[in-house]
Amino acid sequence: MFRLLVSLLCGSTTLQAAPGLAEIGRSVFTDKNLSNPPGQSCMTCHNPNHAFADPRRVSPGANPSFSGNRNAPSLMYAALIPAFAYEDVLLPNGTEIFAWEGGLFYDGRAKDLFEQVGKPFFESHEMNLKNKAELAQKIRKSTYKEKFPRSALKDNEQLTYLVFRSLVEFLKSPSFRPFDSPFDRYQAGDEDALSLSQKRGLDIFKSSGGCADCHLLEPQNWSKPLLSDFGYDNLGGPASGRKDPGLFTVTGNPEDFGKFRAPGLRNIELTAPYLHNGSIKTLREVLEFYNKRDLEPERWGVTDYPETVNHDDLGDLGLTDEEISNLLDFLRAFTDDSLTKKKTTLPTPPKGTPSTESIKLNFPDHTHRLDPNFEHE
Ligand code: HEC
Ligand code: HEC
Repeated sequence: MFRLLVSLLCGSTTLQAAPGLAEIGRSVFTDKNLSNPPGQSCMTCHNPNHAFADPRRVSPGANPSFSGNRNAPSLMYAALIPAFAYEDVLLPNGTEIFAWEGGLFYDGRAKDLFEQVGKPFFESHEMNLKNKAELAQKIRKSTYKEKFPRSALKDNEQLTYLVFRSLVEFLKSPSFRPFDSPFDRYQAGDEDALSLSQKRGLDIFKSSGGCADCHLLEPQNWSKPLLSDFGYDNLGGPASGRKDPGLFTVTGNPEDFGKFRAPGLRNIELTAPYLHNGSIKTLREVLEFYNKRDLEPERWGVTDYPETVNHDDLGDLGLTDEEISNLLDFLRAFTDDSLTKKKTTLPTPPKGTPSTESIKLNFPDHTHRLDPNFEHE
């Protein structure tokens, strides 16, 4: 039985049909009937006009009497985030330390994208379904049910597995990784792609701002920079709602209280409000926070876990108002053309963006893990 299932899941109907799966994923992503009560899809909180982030501070659930306490992040480039791991990191002074990196959600509690996409269906503050059986039942009633292999439609485990896989394939597709921002053109050698102010901003980003220490400008696990080291830090952002322990929830280490994963900054201009709890409304204010957090305690108010706040890299950067404006201009160069110039719901990536199949080894989940319920290693 086990062997049969594995060969079915790995067989031509699924793995080699990845483009077809991405198509199913698109239908699932936009289907508002997959919540209880109906009315909420993934896209309700991951809004395409905001680079698939939520402009609301926190998103109400399908049942509006429940809501989470985090701001829904952008899904652009989310499939490129490396899996959660304890990595050795070489500090600029030559010391080697170990640190948590990667993983999905602000606290890394989903090891990888496959694990992540299954969660929202069953969270009471999100789509609020009871279990896989309820999800499978709703898929069987969907308008796109014929796109699934007939045998899978009979089995809740297989069907939901394919639903999650299809969402992963969808989020891996070229629309979510166009790399067509002015910054990318500049990196490719087009000197005119950045204005003078943006070039000054780039300098500040690398030098006095110290931004590039965490929001890396060099490519790491991908051929182009994702603008994050995907490490965890407590920036001491304003408290909002109930205390959020962040990475501590996953590691149980008190040093990790209030630490959140550094996001990539691509399309950051489109994804207000900011920080894990959406506590800062505008991008300029984020920069003012980095610059003067420690000089203006009354402006930023209390933070959840003062004892683990990073005082080495931010809080008193000494940047002038003009330098803040330069930095702000530079962050705007991370906005993809295909998001601002699009005419349809999904961003249209530039011609020549590689297909998912052709670069499947680049993805963190390239092993196409089977459902964790089926041990196979
Ligand atoms: C009710 C609003 C809501 C719905 C519906 C929702 N999400 Fe999210 N999503 C969020 C929030 C909030 C977070 C951040 C939560 C956290 O970090 O704990 C998030 C995080 C994510 C992430 C992680 C991104 C990252 O950078 O770590 C992915 C991927 C994602 N959602 C995909 C989906 C998919 C796929 C669906 C549909 C099956 C979905 N979401 C439905 C609100 C929502
Ligand atoms: C020590 C590492 C580190 C440095 C240095 C750093 N950041 Fe961050 N950045 C983070 C982390 C971690 C977060 C997420 C914090 C949270 O959500 O609570 C973040 C969040 C952000 C956000 C909000 C992202 C979002 O989607 O809400 C912006 C914008 C940002 N950083 C820009 C910058 C700029 C500009 C600089 C330089 C002035 C900088 N960062 C320096 C680690 C860093």
